[in-house]
Amino acid sequence: MRLVFLGAPGVGKGTQADRVTAQFGPPKISTGDLLREAVRNKTPLGLEAKSCMDQGKLVPDSVVIGMVRAKLAEPMCAKGFILDGFPRTVPQAEELTKMLAEGHMKLDRVINFRVSRQDVVTRLSGRRSCPKCQAVYHVDFAAPKKPGICDRCGGELIQRSDDKPETIEARLKVYDEQTAPLIAYYQQKQMLTELDGSGGMDDVYGRLTRTLAGLGMT
Ligand code: AP5
Repeated sequence: MRLVFLGAPGVGKGTQADRVTAQFGPPKISTGDLLREAVRNKTPLGLEAKSCMDQGKLVPDSVVIGMVRAKLAEPMCAKGFILDGFPRTVPQAEELTKMLAEGHMKLDRVINFRVSRQDVVTRLSGRRSCPKCQAVYHVDFAAPKKPGICDRCGGELIQRSDDKPETIEARLKVYDEQTAPLIAYYQQKQMLTELDGSGGMDDVYGRLTRTLAGLGMT
């Protein structure tokens, strides 16, 4: 399966992509994770991306497109992938179509997760992440066994710097202005499926797997 998970920050794209990967195998390609890794490693790309990310702005298209192009060329993506957080602008979507065509591939479907603004803010404000193994928790909805400590690797959990209230607001504004137009873009191409992302993680995953089955993908 070759999927794009679209939706506002905090709708649960990454959480659901991890579950699909665990059950069905296609790797998750998260541009946010790749960028945070580059920031942690202080690579030139990471240094360029950091100030945009800290302000809740998008990293320039050229940077992100190059990163995804390299990732899609890896053998692990030959049979499928889930793009989480890419594309986020119309030029990124157009480049994606081109790079897939170069590899004689095409997208199967774009799943657009929908959640109320209130829920998005609650999910983002309570998110905690492990900088060592990238596991994601929520203080109320997916709490670690020991507060502040990663169940998986024992690392110390942090709050992402862009999950502070003022940056959340900036990210949602950027989403409305630059990413939401992709809904109409993929609707016109008849590639979009809407998914209700409200409720618990298991409920959403049930809805998602039924949707994928209905599309003949599982
Ligand atoms: P990125 O990391 O992609 O952030 P995002 O799109 O803002 O998405 P999030 O990771 O915040 O949310 P999510 O939908 O994956 O939610 P999650 O599953 O974690 O990007 C960060 C930055 O990088 C951007 O601002 C930009 O600067 C840059 N960037 C990245 N891609 C780019 C691109 N293509 N172009 C340009 N710049 C780019 O869930 C959130 C929380 O809710 C978690 O705590 C989770 O446990 C909890 N949760 C999940 N589902 C549920 C549920 N059903 N019920 C209750 N809680 C839930």
